Amino acid sequence: MTDLEVVEGLIKKRRSIRKYTNRQLTRDEINKLVEVAMLVPSAGAIHPLSVHVVPNDRQEKLCIAALGQTAVREASVAIIITANVERMLGKYRSRGLRYAYMEAGHAGQNVALTALAMGLDTVMVGAFVDERVIDVMELTSKDLPLYIICVGEKG
Ligand SMILES: Cc1cc2nc3c(=O)[nH]c(=O)nc-3n(C[C@H](O)[C@H](O)[C@H](O)COP(=O)(O)O)c2cc1C
Repeated sequence: MTDLEVVEGLIKKRRSIRKYTNRQLTRDEINKLVEVAMLVPSAGAIHPLSVHVVPNDRQEKLCIAALGQTAVREASVAIIITANVERMLGKYRSRGLRYAYMEAGHAGQNVALTALAMGLDTVMVGAFVDERVIDVMELTSKDLPLYIICVGEKG
């Protein structure tokens, strides 16, 4: 298969999946997903994103922060993408926020397509209460949560 066929195949195959089996991800699988989330273009090479992995113990609280969406609780892991927006605003003023959102989109797509290539599925979650996610994750107020990506084996 050519690179084009592989990439196009993954893009066409991706669907939001919200129900998962109980299979736990291995450390290698989780590490791979974190790695690809960080492999994104970044305006001014600022790289404001951080990647947080939320396994079982905190997923219930995260589910509540995400308005009770069960995919967040049932996923094998939830990956949270946060952005240090201060660093972006410092360089790009108000446009920096737009850039942070764009970069989170790149990170999300990388995770979604890589997960598919690993036999896993995802759903991107944007509906959550920022302050509650910050509490659950004990983030600093500088880190704005942008995306929760639920990952697991399709159930
Ligand atoms: C920015 C963004 C936020 C989203 N937020 C949620 C969400 O909070 N909950 C959810 O179940 N799906 C969410 N989705 C997934 C969409 O509902 C889904 O992509 C859409 O219905 C199209 O289906 P597909 O992904 O299978 O192509 C979100 C998608 C995007 C891009």
